[in-house]
Amino acid sequence: MKISYQEDTKVFRLDAAGMTYAMSVTDEEGFLSHLYFGAGLGDGDIRYLTRTQEMPWLASRNDRDRGSFLDAQPQECPGNGLGDFRSSAVTIIDSKGQRGIQPLVTGHRIYDGKERLEGLPHTWCRDKSEAMTLEITLKDPSVGAELILCYTIFDGLRAVVRSARIRNCGEQAFTLTKLCSCSLDFDYTGQRLLTLNGSWGREKRKQILPVGIGTQSVSSLRGISSHQAHPFLGLLSEGADQEQGEVIGCNLVYSGNFLAQVERSQFDVLRMQMGIHPEGFAWTLAPGESFQAPEAVLVWSDEGLGGMTRTLHNLYRNHLMRSPWLHRERPVLINNWEATFFDFDLEKLLAIAKRAAQSGVELLVMDDGWFGKRNDDNSSLGDWTVNEEKLPGGVKRLSEELGRIGMKLGIWFEPEMISPDSDLYRAHPDWAFSYDGRRPCRSRNQYVLDLSRKEVRDAIFDQITAVLDSADVAYVKWDMNRALTDVGSHAEGAEAGSLFHRFMLGTYELQERLITRYPDLLLENCSSGGGRYDAGTLFYSPQVWTSDDTDAIERLTIQEGTSMLYPLSSMGAHISVSPSQCVGRLVPMTTRGHVALAGTFGYELDINHLPEADAAMIPGQVALYHRFGELMREGDYYRIASYQDNHLFDCYEVVSGDKTEALLTWVQVLCEPNRRSKRIRVPGLDPDRSYRIEIADPAVQDDRWDGNALRSEEIECMQSFLNRDISGRTLAHAGILMPKLRGDFRSVLIRIAAV
Ligand code: DGJ
Repeated sequence: MKISYQEDTKVFRLDAAGMTYAMSVTDEEGFLSHLYFGAGLGDGDIRYLTRTQEMPWLASRNDRDRGSFLDAQPQECPGNGLGDFRSSAVTIIDSKGQRGIQPLVTGHRIYDGKERLEGLPHTWCRDKSEAMTLEITLKDPSVGAELILCYTIFDGLRAVVRSARIRNCGEQAFTLTKLCSCSLDFDYTGQRLLTLNGSWGREKRKQILPVGIGTQSVSSLRGISSHQAHPFLGLLSEGADQEQGEVIGCNLVYSGNFLAQVERSQFDVLRMQMGIHPEGFAWTLAPGESFQAPEAVLVWSDEGLGGMTRTLHNLYRNHLMRSPWLHRERPVLINNWEATFFDFDLEKLLAIAKRAAQSGVELLVMDDGWFGKRNDDNSSLGDWTVNEEKLPGGVKRLSEELGRIGMKLGIWFEPEMISPDSDLYRAHPDWAFSYDGRRPCRSRNQYVLDLSRKEVRDAIFDQITAVLDSADVAYVKWDMNRALTDVGSHAEGAEAGSLFHRFMLGTYELQERLITRYPDLLLENCSSGGGRYDAGTLFYSPQVWTSDDTDAIERLTIQEGTSMLYPLSSMGAHISVSPSQCVGRLVPMTTRGHVALAGTFGYELDINHLPEADAAMIPGQVALYHRFGELMREGDYYRIASYQDNHLFDCYEVVSGDKTEALLTWVQVLCEPNRRSKRIRVPGLDPDRSYRIEIADPAVQDDRWDGNALRSEEIECMQSFLNRDISGRTLAHAGILMPKLRGDFRSVLIRIAAV
């Protein structure tokens, strides 16, 4: 790992793990040009990549065509209104109401380690030897603006973490109307654009499109990163696929409104940008004041999407997520939401907990409906006091009763919200976002709290801590169930254009306070499922509820998209009933278990109303989770086949860091007639070692169980690879032969262990 600046060539280089990112200071004026992002280049002069020896030449050499230079130059910090007609990285309105900004390089600083981003989620390093940072200072004296572009690389990772900070170093205030976290220009060579889009219950579906001339973007203006779009872009070079070819990924470490776009210009230059969405954004900076944009992570891979995924998982597990639970085995939980919805009391909860405890479940999550007078979703958000009619003796009694049967307690909150029918709203209607003279838009019959205000945050925090202090609570589920509308504050002097971001900062601050006050608390974020499952959220909670759709087959696609960026250890995955409440599909209990093993494992059902055969499988499933939990949490992830792509089957593998063990999950979604076995390559193992392959889940070998029991002819076909010694090289290239399984929604877990 190395960062350097060469005075004579004026080239900045960041080198890590066989990757190079390079920029140069162009022309005496000091434009910051992007030179290169890709495979490690070694030493050598790469200044020629600036293309300044060709038309339209340098600005200083060709002043009559300065605009042509600005509009063609590959930039790292494109300004606004002065000749680069592509999308700007920064825009402002100055005190005279004028626009126009072009920051130019005035200096730089290189140091070991990485600094924190106050109030925002950010990557970090344990000690300074793990990371290096380059800060480039750019100024535009005409408007009194100073920009610091920050670039961090981490030892052993093909990633560059970027952020931008702007300071008013002049004498007049100006209003910032856009600041990208990252902007870079590189040659278009036939790349395709990958985005993750979706909806409630259908989060993070892959979409791959050609990049045409013009602009393609994904964005959110919902105040959350959203179910519909995700703050991520992937660029796949021609021929790149899951395991080969070059891929660049860009992921924003932020959970609010965002814009992520690529713009292919007339000269086939791709400008890739990501940051807070500029629509409606305005942040006034008085002299001396600064604004910090969130971080964006750039990853380069020459091992296709899989390489990008593994780099992101390693970066997030080692340099973003912070919880003491991160590397710890998480308790197997049972959540009462899909079991009871709002219709529960102490007795019902304890009945679920008792049977669950006997099956090895360790924690009961009491979901929505325990507070105020909330018996449906029409009231009480903001009144975080226990409903003693449902829970006599309060949360304390519940936690004590659970303690007696060896179970821990988790509780659901939705701290950012307020019901119009709540004591809090009756006392402080001005604490909800609204525009004067306009009745705010309701969604799930609730309003959004103005968390830009400290007194509002304090009041909510005090209520939550009163509950948590009253009992032994091991886990909190922090939910958020509506998008932001009517974002008007009734606080003195609130700046309208700053509120979406201030709301996000307020939410982050509340979560920070919570995990600081309860350092051992296991915090799980949620936003109607995966509406705010993003890199920003992972800074505060080691696990996030992936989707409200718990049907195992739907989950294959949702979990594929989610795990493409985020570690399996963060992916909330629970077994629920069959037929699924969401889609009415009947799926064998073993298959539901195998799919949930890819995340933080748990149950979301009434164990007392489960078919006996399903309930009887729970101890075995819990044992499987304990056996493979560490491997799934810490291992390297390989996507082998995608049901989203082939509409028939899904397959993925997790390999331990030392390559001594792997677990392969095979789900045959639909059975086809007249098929022979499928050849499945098993990547990621040590080519020079021998491996023994076995069926990992004894339940599928036992025909007392559900429709997923393996038939004798299926087992016979698997004898081609079961209990034989096969080299990692053979497994990677020749693979194994997965039999056709009779029936739909079948699955097999395969353990591969070094001999
Ligand atoms: C949405 C969440 O995603 C669900 O798991 C559940 O907690 C409900 N909210 C409760 O209102």
